[in-house]
Formats: sequence, structure tokens, C-alpha cells
Amino acid sequence: MTLILEHLNIRKHQKQICQVVLDHFEEQYTAELGDKWTSVRDVLTCPSCWQYAILLNKFSQSAELENTLRVEGYYPAFQGTLPYLPRSLKCYISRTPRRFPAQKHQTGKLKEYYLLNAASVLPVLALEVKDGEDVLDLCAAPGGKSITILQCAYPGQFLCNEYDDLRSRWLKQTMESFIPDPLVNLITVSKLDGRQIGDFKPELYDKVLVDAPCSNDRSWLFSSDTQQAKLRLIQRKELSSLQFQLLSKIFLVDIAKMISELLSSSRNVHRMYIFFFCCCFFLFNL
Ligand SMILES: C[S@@+](CC[C@H](N)C(=O)[O-])C[C@H]1O[C@@H](n2cnc3c(N)ncnc32)[C@H](O)[C@@H]1O
Repeated sequence: MTLILEHLNIRKHQKQICQVVLDHFEEQYTAELGDKWTSVRDVLTCPSCWQYAILLNKFSQSAELENTLRVEGYYPAFQGTLPYLPRSLKCYISRTPRRFPAQKHQTGKLKEYYLLNAASVLPVLALEVKDGEDVLDLCAAPGGKSITILQCAYPGQFLCNEYDDLRSRWLKQTMESFIPDPLVNLITVSKLDGRQIGDFKPELYDKVLVDAPCSNDRSWLFSSDTQQAKLRLIQRKELSSLQFQLLSKIFLVDIAKMISELLSSSRNVHRMYIFFFCCCFFLFNL
């Protein structure tokens, strides 16, 4: 009896692949990736192979946690030769793919770590944020990259924007869970369509991160609702256009502002960097 229950329990937690989505990917990605698709598919379809990194929260440091991670075979994901790697950023990955338990949100208590894909840290490192710089995170929920930025530096102004209502609340909660009181009050969370941000927030920023909405293939592949999955497959075709609009709007608005600043004043105009980080195959969808 116990064995049957255990078996049922395991099955309950096993993710089921949605065949409609897999068939769609087979067709699209065989054409786009050729031979590489087989190895991409192996990782996508095997959740136990997914690698989760552990980003330590410098605002809630625990030497004990770091020791535990090392004992369990975790090691720093980024070392040595990168052009920008603040000492305050601590991100660990395991030698074998596995998932560390997530910490629950508790009001008034800071979390010690955030689980994320180590690749998500790279665009933040590329941004090279320095103390005092004004930063805009245009598509910020659930907040992984925003808190990574705050592990690296203390921005001057920090605007985190998220269009979706529910995800915007999630973003706020992430901030509260990771960033202590005096600092969290310096961060603004807005809920604007990124394509119109220039109209409502006309300030200039030193660094802008555009982590545009992506196709999120990994979760769609395990959709339990075939009809919903079919709908998503249609909607994903429109993503590349939204991604392009987000990038071009923010880029054009800022170029126009930089030119008008240059013409009207002699003060230094900040350089603006845009990093368009799209997790899932932006180029392939164009
Ligand atoms: C790839 S996710 C961002 C992940 C986030 N940067 C992180 O590291 O946790 C893209 C986000 O863009 C949001 N989004 C979609 N359309 C948007 C728009 N027009 N303007 C701003 N954000 C948008 C989505 O709701 C989603 O939360």
C-alpha cells in the first residue's frame, strides 16, 4: 500500500510533456537549429537536468549557508577573468544538476538566496552597473535581474517596471524579500507598458536592461491544457514584434533625448547602454 502511494506521489510530481507543443518545437527547431536541436530537446524535456544557480543575498549574508553549499559540491558560477565581476556578487552552481529548496516569502524577513539560471546573471554583468548610476529595468518581474543588479552596485535612481498587474505585485514582493528597508524605499516600481515608458518617465538613465518577454518554451512544453498550449503557440508568433517594439521605442526615445540634451546644454550626457536579453530565440522568431 505504502509503495503504491509513493508511486502515485512520484507520478503526481512528474511533469508531463504536452505532445502538441513538442511536435511544434520538433518542426520549428529542427529547421532552425539542425543537429543541435537534439541536445537542446534532451535538456528541455528533462527537468532533472535543468540547472539552478543560487544567488546569495548580500543583504542577508550567512557564512553557514556558503559552507553548506561548498560541502554539498556547489562552487562559484563566475570566477576570475570576467571584465566586470563585483566581489559582492556571489552565485553558486552545483557540479550535478539539481534544485536547492526555495525559501518562502515571510513578511519582515529577508531571504538568504534566490534561485535562477546562471545565464540570467550574464546580462547584468554585461551592464556593468556602478554605484550612483541611474538604472531602468524595463521588464522586471519577477525581479531576478533587478536583485542581481543590487548585489553588484547601489544605483542612484532605480526604476523597475513591469506591465503585468500580477507579476508587478510579485516583483514588489521579491524586492521586499531581498532588499532591506532603507534601500528598498529608493527603488521605484512602475506598471507601465515598456513601449510608452518615455512618455511617462522622461528621465535619462545610465543603464537600461530590456529583458523582453520571451517564448518561455520550457514551461509551455509541460502545459497540462492542450487547448491553452495551442493558443500559446499562435501567440508566440507575435512576440518578436513586441520585443522589437520595446527595444526600438526605448532606443529611439533615448537617442532623441540625447541629441536634444547635447544641443541645449553643455553638461555631460550619460552614455546609455541597452542590453536586449531575450531568453528564448528572439533571432529565430524574426
Ligand atoms: C523575461 S520576463 C522578465 C524576467 C525578469 N527580468 C527577471 O529577471 O526576473 C519578461 C517580462 O516582461 C513583461 N512584459 C510583457 N510585455 C511588456 C511590456 N509591454 N512592457 C513591459 N513589460 C512587459 C512580462 O510580463 C514579463 O514579466
